[in-house]
Amino acid sequence: MSTTMSKGSAPSNTSSTRSTRNTSDPYKYYLDESEIPTAFYNVRADMQTEHAPILHPGTLKPVVLADLEPVFCTELARQELNDSDRFIDIPGPVLDFYRMYRPSPLVRAYYLEKALDTPARIYYKYEGGNTSGSHKLNSAIAQAYYAKEQGLTALTTETGAGQWGTAMAMACAYFDLGLSVYMVKASYEQKPYRKTIMQCYGASVSPSPSDTTRIGQKMLENDPESYGSLGTAISEAVEVALDHNSTTRYVLGSVLNQVLLHQSIIGLESKAALDRLEVYPDLLIGCAGGGSNLGGLMAPYMADRLAGRAAPHFIAVEPASCPSLTRGRFAYDFCDTGEVTPLAKMYTLGHDFIPAPSHAGGLRYHGMSPILSQLYHDGFLDEARAVEQTEVLAAALLFARSEGTLPAPESAHAIRVAIDEALVCRETGEEKTILFGLTGNGMLDLAAYEQYLDGTMTDFIPSDEDLARGFASIPSLPGIQ
Ligand SMILES: Cc1ncc(COP(=O)(O)O)c(C=O)c1O
Repeated sequence: MSTTMSKGSAPSNTSSTRSTRNTSDPYKYYLDESEIPTAFYNVRADMQTEHAPILHPGTLKPVVLADLEPVFCTELARQELNDSDRFIDIPGPVLDFYRMYRPSPLVRAYYLEKALDTPARIYYKYEGGNTSGSHKLNSAIAQAYYAKEQGLTALTTETGAGQWGTAMAMACAYFDLGLSVYMVKASYEQKPYRKTIMQCYGASVSPSPSDTTRIGQKMLENDPESYGSLGTAISEAVEVALDHNSTTRYVLGSVLNQVLLHQSIIGLESKAALDRLEVYPDLLIGCAGGGSNLGGLMAPYMADRLAGRAAPHFIAVEPASCPSLTRGRFAYDFCDTGEVTPLAKMYTLGHDFIPAPSHAGGLRYHGMSPILSQLYHDGFLDEARAVEQTEVLAAALLFARSEGTLPAPESAHAIRVAIDEALVCRETGEEKTILFGLTGNGMLDLAAYEQYLDGTMTDFIPSDEDLARGFASIPSLPGIQ
């Protein structure tokens, strides 16, 4: 059953006799700096069904470069539309920056395996070792570079949990660009130190909804107590970029094709390291907010799957409070609450859906990457699971106490399912090989841990009526499927 090709002795069957180091794999494996991939992999070039075109919100026609250029810088707009180039070179200055924190380690979770007493082999790719604390920096630095190259002087963006805003602040500081961040108010209040880090790197940070934009003012008029959503924060940031178009563009940290493209570096490095160890994963698991880390982690393995070379099983993990893949609709919808962005065909809960303030702020998005949505619809992304935050935090603590790293709550969604799968292996005796993405560290998520530890954390699962209210905002587009 297992496609594992790992060398070394088989583990024994009891925790008392099972060694923590029972194969020849090192605990953590670093590629050499010279082995950092020099090109991003564009899975769209290999997809059997192209995702439905992104539509202009005014004309409802597929967007062309000229439609995207007022919002995104030109090279990123090109990448957004590129469905033919399999590889896109990583510019030299971006590679220079990557060398400061990449390659990231691929870790064999020996101590978690031991704690679970499982015959499964568990690996994770750890992206939380840079100051921004997550994988988001991989795309932030590429986006800042293309803006600088174009002669722009400033960028705007939104941030949910704060990791993307922090990553963008680091990237803009490096390339000497101004940055305005609209931070979802729930996170702004839960994570004050995130704001401080962004300010350390020179960014200006406003809680969203804010009274500095037309859409923010409208949202506050409707609900002065609104704790915000990514959809609203996106609308605010896009509005400011459009209002200052001679100098400024908007950047987004997930969902878009360009972001999945940049995040392919996670999967390319993982595959290079695992190939070296002669290991091929049976299961690939990632948390899914807008889909960028999972899309990036699985990219080169999806290439194998699409070409019929291998059949790894892919699992997306989302919060039960914001279940876009497991309970959403596959339909055209706006990417933001204010309806200023193009329409994408994706799994969506409706752009008016405001998820409950969950601590995994980075997973609180109403939609899902069009690439992942299409792959899921076509059965190539095999499975999506929704998990509740208390069970996620329980998994996070088990992981922290065995592997040492305190994970971000978003990342802990993937840990939860990796543990569940490893426990199934304990029952069946299968030696499956599991690879999951550990996207970030939880050092600025201590409010969540505190709530979990003092027993005040609750779970929220939207009712069918809650979802119906969100679905009502999905536009009906006669003649367009
Ligand atoms: C640590 C971490 N992991 C995962 C995510 C989810 O984003 P995506 O699905 O784009 O990887 C976020 C988003 O902010 C994050 O901060």
